Amino acid sequence: MPVRVPQFDLVAQYDALRDEVLAAIEGVCARAAFSSGPEVARFEAEFAAYCGAAHCVALNSGTSALHLALLASGVGPGDEVVTAPNTFTATAEAIAYTGARPVFADVDPATANLDPASAEAAITERTKAIVPVHLYGRPAAIGEYGIPVVEDACQAHGAGGVGRSGAAAAYSFYPSKNLGAYGEGGALTTDDEAVASFARAMRDHGRGVGQVGFNYRMDGVQAAVLRVKLARLDGWNARRRELARIYREGLASVPVDLPTDDAAAPCVYHQFVIWVDDRDEVRRELAERGVGTAVHYPAPLHLDQAYAHLCYREGDFPRAERACRRAVSLPMFPELSDEQAAYVVQALRDVLRAT
Ligand SMILES: Cc1ncc(COP(=O)(O)O)c(C=O)c1O
Repeated sequence: MPVRVPQFDLVAQYDALRDEVLAAIEGVCARAAFSSGPEVARFEAEFAAYCGAAHCVALNSGTSALHLALLASGVGPGDEVVTAPNTFTATAEAIAYTGARPVFADVDPATANLDPASAEAAITERTKAIVPVHLYGRPAAIGEYGIPVVEDACQAHGAGGVGRSGAAAAYSFYPSKNLGAYGEGGALTTDDEAVASFARAMRDHGRGVGQVGFNYRMDGVQAAVLRVKLARLDGWNARRRELARIYREGLASVPVDLPTDDAAAPCVYHQFVIWVDDRDEVRRELAERGVGTAVHYPAPLHLDQAYAHLCYREGDFPRAERACRRAVSLPMFPELSDEQAAYVVQALRDVLRAT
């Protein structure tokens, strides 16, 4: 059957924004402000205000934002940084960039986010930072660790309370994110002036701090597009929550594990992930009914070949392993219609033979 409901689609959003986005890009081209420049400065001010942070440093990716936030927190070779294993590979990659060792800890099965008690148990005298991931847009609980916290908010733009507990928060503007650029982009937010000025210098080849830096600057075109889209982010996140409500109500009596919903710390549903046994068969049967799905993420990072040198074994983090084995991401993007969401619900009820 042809795809009736894609897992994700950006084309409909472009159709709605076309004139405004093209005018914004034209403005950057007309001034030839391609790297950094006034649009980047305006975006930084607007995104800092949106996040309620004192500073925003615009960058070329979420990975760069994590990397600079960790360096600014004093992380370096020989150190350890604790994070969750069921995240996108970039979280651990940024830790490895600093020369530190990623140390994994298990997740809370109710939220799939890093469990503060497990994170605390993984702290040693070498631990320099903790990186909780607000996975799927759901705010992670953050413990009192007594060491710097760098929040991986790459999937959580606008989620309740995110970016307020740590030394810094890292955002990705990869095109598919809730706030996505027309290419690569990222940002670090912080209330700490020293962290912000270090990141500003290091994104621009370390100018002014006497250190070897990076080219992590944001393009003017990306900032101009992000400014257009930031004005719509709250509306898009509200629509994601409405779609989540339709899924949640429609699937209440279906034998799947649904994501938790905490009104005190609203999730922005970057993904709507359900957990089912026999995940691959369920996905195949949904595809037969024209419903696209995805898996975020099929294997936990402690079992990834890239981290084989850390010598973890299957069974080390059973809750994260189980979540990865059973996760299915349903279609989720703001332009999805109520009818499409209802179709997904019915297809899943049919597949799981729910009455
Ligand atoms: C949880 C998480 N961390 C880090 C990143 C890295 O962001 P980027 O792809 O912009 O480097 C992403 C996004 O891809 C992500 O989802």
